[in-house]
Amino acid sequence: MATVALLAIGLGLTGGAYAAFTTTTASAETTPAVASQATVDEGQKLFQANCATCHGMSAQGTDEAPSLIGVGSAAVDFQVGTGRMPMQMQGPQAQEKPVQFTDEQVSALADYVASLAPGPSIPEQKYLDGKGDAANGAELFRINCAMCHNVAGAGGALTEGKYAPPLTGVSAKHIYEAMVTGPQNMPVFNDLNIDPQGKADIITYLMYIQEHPSPGGFELGSLGPVAEGLFLWIFGLGAVVALTVWITAKSN
Ligand code: HEC
Ligand code: HEC
Repeated sequence: MATVALLAIGLGLTGGAYAAFTTTTASAETTPAVASQATVDEGQKLFQANCATCHGMSAQGTDEAPSLIGVGSAAVDFQVGTGRMPMQMQGPQAQEKPVQFTDEQVSALADYVASLAPGPSIPEQKYLDGKGDAANGAELFRINCAMCHNVAGAGGALTEGKYAPPLTGVSAKHIYEAMVTGPQNMPVFNDLNIDPQGKADIITYLMYIQEHPSPGGFELGSLGPVAEGLFLWIFGLGAVVALTVWITAKSN
């Protein structure tokens, strides 16, 4: 009877944890409406005033900056929406700065660049609600992202002064856009590498670890399996040894 009761409690707890895991939501930004000619024109004006010095009058690229033809609205929304563009100083990597345009202006710029040639577009809301499968997202994140961004999304240094930033506080939309556009040293994850549902799962996982910073017991600075294994080894095994010594001492 006791075993059955214990089993029921265990299952109940797991189920509860799973439910909490899967229903975690966080606010995500809305996707803009379909582009009209007016917003494209507005975007072109903004572009010529703020971006053309580096990217060229028709976004064709210059010695200073790459062509934006075919980068899609997702790249613009990511670069301008995180304050990386307009770039201010040359460095190993475009810096994040306070965003310099309103949401309407960012979407006008995105619509203008998208009107030049097809490219990845701003993701649909249904992938951004954090209602995906966090366990699958964790798996995909470990395989595809953790080597640069760390298992807990804490970020990490790369070569030549470049770095993979921490992924805390990044909106779901910008996470998705980073995957489809691969800013700078980050690879592009197209739909063949990771399908949209997989991307939604990764977003769900990142939202989950932000709201539950330490899902698995002791927080050891998320230093990875070696440190955590060592901890168990020393303290867990230490306890076993102590117990053995104690039992032997008693039986003498
Ligand atoms: C001072 C020069 C400069 C200005 C001004 C500037 N950019 Fe850039 N931009 C760059 C450089 C350099 C890169 C390449 C960054 C890299 O890969 O290291 C870049 C990259 C980008 C990318 C990424 C392209 C890709 O392949 O994914 C987008 C999108 C972009 N810029 C949009 C804009 C927009 C929109 C503006 C105006 C609001 C702007 N930029 C203003 C220099 C500039
Ligand atoms: C080869 C290393 C590398 C891998 C692998 C990688 N990234 Fe990145 N990531 C970067 C770098 C470098 C940047 C910074 C680019 C910049 O500032 O323009 C970045 C930027 C980002 C950003 C933007 C963060 C911000 O503060 O705006 C997000 C989100 C992101 N990555 C998510 C991911 C996800 C999700 C994966 C796995 C599917 C992944 N990355 C895989 C190197 C990597």
